[in-house]
Amino acid sequence: MTGLTFGSAIDVSGSLEKSPSGKQNVELHAKQIQVTGKCDPTEFPFKIKERHSLEYIRQFPHLRCRTNVFSALLRVRSEATSAIQSFFKDNGFIQIHTPVITSNDCEGAGELFQVEPASRDKQQDERDPHYFSVPTYLTVSGQLHLEVMAGAFPAVYTFGPTFRAENSQSRRHLAEFYMVEAEISFTESLEDVMTVMEHLFKASTEHVLTHCAEDVELFHKFVAPGHRGQVDLMLSRKFNVISYTEAIDILNRSSQIFTFPTKWGCDLQTEHEKYLVKHCGNIPVFVTDYPYDLKPFYARDNQDHPRHTAAAVDLLVPGVGELCGGSLREERLEILRSRIIQAGMEDAYEWYLQLRQFGSVPHGGFGMGFERYLQCILGVDNIKDVIPFARFSHSCLL
Ligand code: 4AD
Ligand code: MG
Repeated sequence: MTGLTFGSAIDVSGSLEKSPSGKQNVELHAKQIQVTGKCDPTEFPFKIKERHSLEYIRQFPHLRCRTNVFSALLRVRSEATSAIQSFFKDNGFIQIHTPVITSNDCEGAGELFQVEPASRDKQQDERDPHYFSVPTYLTVSGQLHLEVMAGAFPAVYTFGPTFRAENSQSRRHLAEFYMVEAEISFTESLEDVMTVMEHLFKASTEHVLTHCAEDVELFHKFVAPGHRGQVDLMLSRKFNVISYTEAIDILNRSSQIFTFPTKWGCDLQTEHEKYLVKHCGNIPVFVTDYPYDLKPFYARDNQDHPRHTAAAVDLLVPGVGELCGGSLREERLEILRSRIIQAGMEDAYEWYLQLRQFGSVPHGGFGMGFERYLQCILGVDNIKDVIPFARFSHSCLL
């Protein structure tokens, strides 16, 4: 039949029959085939029976969803989204739609995309340079808005797009990614926060493995051979817990030469995170109690010395490094006020202080990068291959 080529759109009617082949259960016995949309196979970028690399198909963001591997990814992504929503629903969390446009820089790292109208009339500009009268940005985290809600509900979460103007084209950074964030009230222990992280990871992964078995297998067979064993290991073992201070000791004792040398007080780089996970037998590891000065203003002061730390925790996983970041939040009004004054932010954060002034509750939470989660369970090396349309510095195709 003319026009029946690889890549064309066809309309087929017939009957599904049991297949004599061992490779499939059923086959379609066609009675009528109609070519709805032709496709010239010499020009179509994907070739029949060829297994193109993820890097190759990445050049065609408008077509790659038609490949086996990327459609499998999109089904897994969709199923993982449901799994995460179910986990929170089953555990009594209320979903909050935190805003995309915000006037705060939650992480204080300055990686913000500013939001202003593309065009405004000159008179308006002279009266008020900002559309919202204050500088506004795309959100880097919904945490502060979740903390507002933590004053009304025992457990809340949000799952939405998050934006960071990171000048990075690394295999684990995007300018637009999805973050799952949870906040729990009436907790004074980092263990409670870590328990939710571990259960979320394990419950969602079990769900995806059961409901998307074939799609996951495709990755574990062709993209990251042998990765299934790694996933089973993560599911079967309790995650490790070490303090930042122990982590630095381990790194200092290591015979590996790191690009970034380590000493107490330094930030952990990807190479350090990956080493620590290996050191822990490729089982995810929580690193707790980071130097106070490394963490944002909201992290709870452990009031220890001479090594001053905050009650913050990162979850490190094989292949990826940091998957989750979280902390207990500083709920004590005076300590928080003095930190905010020190940072010169008292005007912008008066509302945040009021959360502590009126019925303050010890609380904590975390954020998990959704794309990094998919990388971790599927064994995908580059974060650009687990999101439908990747945005990163110098690239925004489509
Ligand atoms: O560690 P982060 O910066 O933590 C927060 O934003 C907290 N306010 C979250 C909270 O406590 N509610 O980000 C959380 C996670 C990281 O561990 C990482 O997995 C992911 O978000 N992430 C990114 N993923 C892809 N591209 C980026 N540019 C990312 N930046 C962070
Ligand atoms: Mg972090």
